[in-house]
Amino acid sequence: MKVVNICCIGAGYVGGPTMAVIALKCPQINVTVVDINQQRIDAWNHTDLDQLPIYEPGLKEVVAAARGRNLFFSTEVDKAIDEAQMIFMAVNTPTKTEGEGKGFAADLTFVEKCARQIAEVSTTDKIVIEKSTLPVRTAEKITEVLSSNNKNVHFEVLSNPEFLAEGTAIEDLFKSDRVLIGGDDTPTGQAAVGTLVSIYANWIPKGKILTTNVWSSELSKLASNAMLAQRISSINSLSALCEKTGADIDEVSKAIGMDHRIGPKFLKSSVGFGGSCFQKDILNLVYLCRHYGLEEVAEYWHQVVKINDYQKNRFAAKIIAGLNGTVNQKKVTFLGWAFKKNTNDTRESAAIYVADVLLEEGAELHVYDPMVKEDRIRLDLMTLWEARNDSKDEIAAKLERCVVHLEHKTALENAFAIAILTEWDEFVSYDWKAITEKMMQPAKVFDGRNVTEINDNINQYFIGK
Ligand code: NAD
Ligand code: UGA
Repeated sequence: MKVVNICCIGAGYVGGPTMAVIALKCPQINVTVVDINQQRIDAWNHTDLDQLPIYEPGLKEVVAAARGRNLFFSTEVDKAIDEAQMIFMAVNTPTKTEGEGKGFAADLTFVEKCARQIAEVSTTDKIVIEKSTLPVRTAEKITEVLSSNNKNVHFEVLSNPEFLAEGTAIEDLFKSDRVLIGGDDTPTGQAAVGTLVSIYANWIPKGKILTTNVWSSELSKLASNAMLAQRISSINSLSALCEKTGADIDEVSKAIGMDHRIGPKFLKSSVGFGGSCFQKDILNLVYLCRHYGLEEVAEYWHQVVKINDYQKNRFAAKIIAGLNGTVNQKKVTFLGWAFKKNTNDTRESAAIYVADVLLEEGAELHVYDPMVKEDRIRLDLMTLWEARNDSKDEIAAKLERCVVHLEHKTALENAFAIAILTEWDEFVSYDWKAITEKMMQPAKVFDGRNVTEINDNINQYFIGK
């Protein structure tokens, strides 16, 4: 099949950057990214590239080069579907909040809606690609939905999970470790795989494009995230032991990682992993294992999430203990709210959960993050509290004690404690001596990312030291 038009449904953290890079690298193909969220599409089309809905280093340069040439952002979903030979589904797949599998299984409502719309609208053959992260054997369900098309259209469903990490998305897309494509072992399935391979081959070396069966591809995505998160929970569990024994987690991590069989990456101890996917994907894996009656396997992976919750709570407890057992009416300043540096994404950020504990204990919380806006921070907290059924009065009272700053200096003055929640580079280069002189004494800094230098003038608390 000759691909002239690509459509991507979902203009989020995956759809936007991946399609921008495909458009940049394949100028012969028109790429249209569609979304039902008008505001998001408007932001993607904004003339000021600093207003793009996602902050990602290098993204605005790629959008500037391709947008209007062969990269388009639109809310005309039906039109883009009908005109495309290849459709990527990059919609969100959050954890279910109700019904069967609540709290564990992936909510496939958005994926199913996409498939239904593709089935309804399509008048020509299409290759439909799962870009979203999905439970193993979802392609079966998508194929079933697509078969409701009554216009004699042939659909080939492929799995092509995305492995980019936020903050390095463009770099990751330019130089992927691997591109994974799963397809059916039938002549039409293999032809579709070949067509997708030929698109990536415009910039990815062939040796890095791995083709498998659909189920291996779907499962490999969940398994990759589970293995990465498992390393973080492993090192974080050891950080608790370090604090009891006098061992230093950064030294332990270095020593472990120098074994080339283990390697140094994803062994940085922290306040806990965040982001939209690690927890969601592991819980989904747990659900799948339980579904297949593999209780021990389910429990093994569940522990990765439980250790992560333990780590966030441990950090909050460390702040409270460091402030003589109470934070009530004390100004505590958070540096960072995003779940990692170089992104404005805050989904499942550890900061939200640590903030929750401190606000429950009566703290006056002040927050500064170079990329996250006040509205987002307030919404993150409100979403958590509403889901927990906190009363309106309680929520209002806690929000009143939460102040968001546009610059760090005002956030830090007169604070009893500073807590570093995100490892933004600018925090490391602050003049810490000058900052702590303006704090309540004795000044205390709780470094949840182990990024600040040891400073004899400050009471510093690290993870795992
Ligand atoms: P996102 O929430 O940022 O974006 C999803 C977009 O899909 C939203 O803008 C939403 O409005 C849109 N959408 C939902 N239903 C739609 C419909 N029927 N028609 C048109 N638009 C629709 O999500 P994301 O972070 O981009 O993640 C998307 C998928 O990719 C998830 O399955 C996730 O697990 C996976 N993934 C995410 C990352 C990441 O770094 N964020 C990395 C790899 C994989
Ligand atoms: C992660 C994976 O790295 C991607 O490969 C995957 O595509 C993506 O999830 C996804 O499926 O969404 P992402 O969540 O964007 O990417 O970012 P990571 O760099 O993996 O960081 C996740 C969290 O772990 C962050 O909170 C980060 O601070 C934390 N982390 C990471 C640590 O605490 N220690 C480490 O050593 C590494």
